[in-house]
Amino acid sequence: MDTMRWENGTLVLLDQTKLPGMVEYIHCRDHETVAEAIRSLRVRGAPAIGAAAAYGLVLGVLAAGAKNREELLARAREVANVLASTRPTAVNLAWALNRLLARLEASPASDPQELTELLINEAHAIYREDREANKRIGQFGQELVPYGARILTHCNAGALATAGYGTALGVIRAAHEAGKRVSVYAGETRPLLQGARLTTWELIQDNIPVTLVTDNMAAYLMGRGMVDLVVVGADRIAANGDVANKIGTYGLAVLAKEHGLPFYVAAPLSTIDLSLASGKDIPIEERKSEEVTHLAGVPVAPPGVKAWNPAFDVTPARLVTAIITDRGVVRPPYRESLAGLYGS
Ligand code: MRU
Repeated sequence: MDTMRWENGTLVLLDQTKLPGMVEYIHCRDHETVAEAIRSLRVRGAPAIGAAAAYGLVLGVLAAGAKNREELLARAREVANVLASTRPTAVNLAWALNRLLARLEASPASDPQELTELLINEAHAIYREDREANKRIGQFGQELVPYGARILTHCNAGALATAGYGTALGVIRAAHEAGKRVSVYAGETRPLLQGARLTTWELIQDNIPVTLVTDNMAAYLMGRGMVDLVVVGADRIAANGDVANKIGTYGLAVLAKEHGLPFYVAAPLSTIDLSLASGKDIPIEERKSEEVTHLAGVPVAPPGVKAWNPAFDVTPARLVTAIITDRGVVRPPYRESLAGLYGS
């Protein structure tokens, strides 16, 4: 099942807010619809929002019907600003938009149609390259997974969160495909339940054994010796190896350390932000309190109660055993090992 596809000038997105109950697609014909889909998590996961935003930029440019290069460039920058403002934490969003803008600026073409074609091809390339990157992450990562491993993961870093195959779930899929007989504990991931709704749904379709646990069961699960390793995705990785990922990830890393378990992060290069020295500089999205006070629209707290809803946290690099990228596995010290990934 595709998370997204480009169909005759339309971006078709699987509406992830409806899963697992309903498989529904939305047809985005303008960039505002794409922006709304990203903001409301109809499409979510760092690489997936990057690819969706790239197609959103194409839609915005197509709709404008620019008459010359200058008009087209101005429009592209304006649309990119709208899309970039939807979610602040995952760097893939800005990365994809900047890649498209840079492609336009670097082209000497003056014909708007030619420039638009260029943009479409670049958006396709981002999508295609992400799928390929995830396959490589899977191959590198599965070598770290022992036979019969019981793996804990958090949120959804699967096919749904990417252009396909997944990052953390890509590692799990590759280990499964290699015949390692792995099994998975999926943390439910409050408040929006990406683990319960999406990760279990994906793994069941692939016949990978999965057990759903609530987030507060992780310590007991590890304490009873029921987990062999943790693997998660990332929304942004700073130059020193600090990792922003779904809220709750940091807690799992602390627990993994306490129980002597490896804690792996799987992410493509498009998630690494060497411009930020440490995780302290990563902007953390705060979402509306209703996501905490309500469950599927039903109140689970007294009316008017104050609630805090940071969507991500930052795991310090010292708790990360290794980062599995599409160019190989890197280990501490991350400042050197991450920088070394570039130019190879
Ligand atoms: O708020 P979400 O659902 O977009 O958060 C997603 C995550 O935190 C994922 O773990 C991360 O984007 C990695 S996806 C390959």
